[in-house]
Amino acid sequence: MSKQLWKPGNMLYPLPVVMVSCRCGEKDNIITVAWAGTICTNPAMVSISIKKERFSYDMIKESGEFVINLVTDRLVRAADWCGVRSGKDYDKFREMNLTKEKAETVDAPMIAESPVNIECVVEEIKELGSHDMFISRVTAVRAEEGYMDSKGKFMLNNTGLVTYSHGEYFMLGKKLGKFGYSVKRQ
Ligand SMILES: Cc1cc2nc3c(=O)[nH]c(=O)nc-3n(C[C@H](O)[C@H](O)[C@H](O)COP(=O)(O)O)c2cc1C
Repeated sequence: MSKQLWKPGNMLYPLPVVMVSCRCGEKDNIITVAWAGTICTNPAMVSISIKKERFSYDMIKESGEFVINLVTDRLVRAADWCGVRSGKDYDKFREMNLTKEKAETVDAPMIAESPVNIECVVEEIKELGSHDMFISRVTAVRAEEGYMDSKGKFMLNNTGLVTYSHGEYFMLGKKLGKFGYSVKRQ
């Protein structure tokens, strides 16, 4: 096997791709983010990294809050569009026909069409270079009741979740195992 040696770059894939909704004053907006991650279980914390020139950057910096909306196959076109058009020029909720829902703990709209909405409050903004990292605490999570099974278990992996890998979108594929399966007896 022979491998090419490349200069440092982003090659950590697949990633979640999420729609981050925010509000500042009268303006609501959505920015698509792939540089997002879980960074702590307890307290529940996440990060999103955003370029300073994005319209959403100042909105989130000023309001100090946002909602992460998970993307499904039904939302992927809207997610892509919100990632190539700016809130400076468009009302993205209206253009993409998305429904605003009131969040519980933050003053930012949730996207009703997303099965999971994660409400977040910014704790720290870390300047890294091209992107600044918004280190944030999760203050509430909403999960679509229609995806609960008869025992009340949330069937997240049945929602058509989308991942982003090397410039392309994919829907979750074949299940290969579950947490800890490698050490469990058959
Ligand atoms: C799949 C995808 C992932 C993206 N990930 C990020 C990201 O992690 N951080 C970022 O600053 N911009 C990211 N963008 C670009 C912004 O979503 C894009 O510049 C958007 O138009 C900004 O909207 P705004 O100006 O309304 O804030 C991504 C775009 C796409 C399509």
